[in-house]
Amino acid sequence: MILLKKMRLLLFLVSQVAVFALFFHMYNHGALYRKEEPKPVHVLILSSWRSGSSFVGQLFGQHPDVFYLMEPAWHVWMTFTDSTAWSLHMAVRDLLRSVFLCDMSVFDAYMKPGPLKQSSLFQWEQSRALCSPPACDFFPREEITFHAHCKTLCNKQPFAVVEKACRSYSHVVLKEVRFLNLQPLSQLLIDPSLNLHIVHLVRDPRAVFRSREHTTADLMIDSHIVMGQNWQKLKKEDHPYYTMQIICKSQLDIYKAIQSLPKALQKRYLLIRYEDLVRAPLAQTSRMYEYVGLKFLPHLQNWVVNITRGKGMGEHAFHTNARNALNVSQAWRWSLPYEKVSRLQEVCGDTMDVLGYLQVRSKQEQSNLSLDLLSSWKPSERVYQGGEGSVPTWF
Ligand SMILES: *[C@@H]1O[C@H](CO)[C@@H](O)[C@H](O)[C@H]1NC(C)=O
Ligand SMILES: *[C@@H]1O[C@H](CO)[C@@H](O)[C@H](O)[C@H]1NC(C)=O
Ligand SMILES: *[C@@H]1O[C@H](CO)[C@@H](O)[C@H](O)[C@H]1NC(C)=O
Repeated sequence: MILLKKMRLLLFLVSQVAVFALFFHMYNHGALYRKEEPKPVHVLILSSWRSGSSFVGQLFGQHPDVFYLMEPAWHVWMTFTDSTAWSLHMAVRDLLRSVFLCDMSVFDAYMKPGPLKQSSLFQWEQSRALCSPPACDFFPREEITFHAHCKTLCNKQPFAVVEKACRSYSHVVLKEVRFLNLQPLSQLLIDPSLNLHIVHLVRDPRAVFRSREHTTADLMIDSHIVMGQNWQKLKKEDHPYYTMQIICKSQLDIYKAIQSLPKALQKRYLLIRYEDLVRAPLAQTSRMYEYVGLKFLPHLQNWVVNITRGKGMGEHAFHTNARNALNVSQAWRWSLPYEKVSRLQEVCGDTMDVLGYLQVRSKQEQSNLSLDLLSSWKPSERVYQGGEGSVPTWF
């Protein structure tokens, strides 16, 4: 009898300890969970047309932790082709904000009525995330995906998979060329529901100009929106220079606006020159990944070496053909007449000076390839950590 009582007491005590332990465990686990719940990182690749942003977009988009979309605001611009870049700024900003938060219903306003598919999205096949689970089962997440293959195999997916896919990633990366100043973005930088990081990609305006000359027809609607009223007012031969003037000014305005932000916000900005990326693809990619907290996985390193050396990948691997990137970045020096270069330097001179693109003063200088026109600065110095040294040495 006494033994039984002792047993009961023991059992009671054991059960109390068990309940307490369970409670303690759940409490701890809950606290731990709350603390470590990863907050998605939102990355905006901010650039301009023909500046290598598709290439940089791929560098992010092929990462297995990244949900990537190329140019989501294309849908906004193509809905309001008679508008101006400035009057569409806020619509573009709000679209980006929703997409960062994986709310894809925002596209409803800009797409034809009727059932949407994943393939209703502009350049969807450029996103590895829309080619792998949970969006599409044909390509594993951890593999480099070819957009042409994805386009044929994954084009029947319903639109709902886009949102589902987005929610399954730690990083949401969007590439956009449709901001002409920082003002619409400043609100997103301080938005508590976002964790926004800006990668600002710039390129030598002379190379941009040359590239735009080869894609004038493709860029027509965009150029029209950029030029606004002046589309009608200016002579046709002045259009390319005026457009470049706006683009150069916008890149400079963005850069300068960042300098006037509080130091804490400046840390959310990284400036990348396309030419530096082309010269040192591994180092620069590693720098961008580190900045947003992505691991530079071995298969990505191999792939970056492959594509920048032109091995192992077909013609159609990218919209931006990275294979001759180094050569292409210099092509303007032998293919643009000096008169055009000179005129372009007049409208883009300020921007070039600030970003470290040296101007040429003669035909000879332009064609002398042993003259390096990229001012040398260590890119790491461009990340402003605050405190001393926040004035760039090349300024
Ligand atoms: C890199 O290229 C090599 C040789 O063409 C190829 O075997 C390899 O699969 C490629 N790697 C990646 C990650 O693309
Ligand atoms: C780069 O361009 C120059 C001039 O056209 C040419 O001589 C050279 O072979 C090219 N290099 C590559 C790797 O394509
Ligand atoms: C090209 O530039 C280099 C470096 O400044 C210079 O030494 C050389 O004389 C130049 N060549 C010509 C043909 O101007």
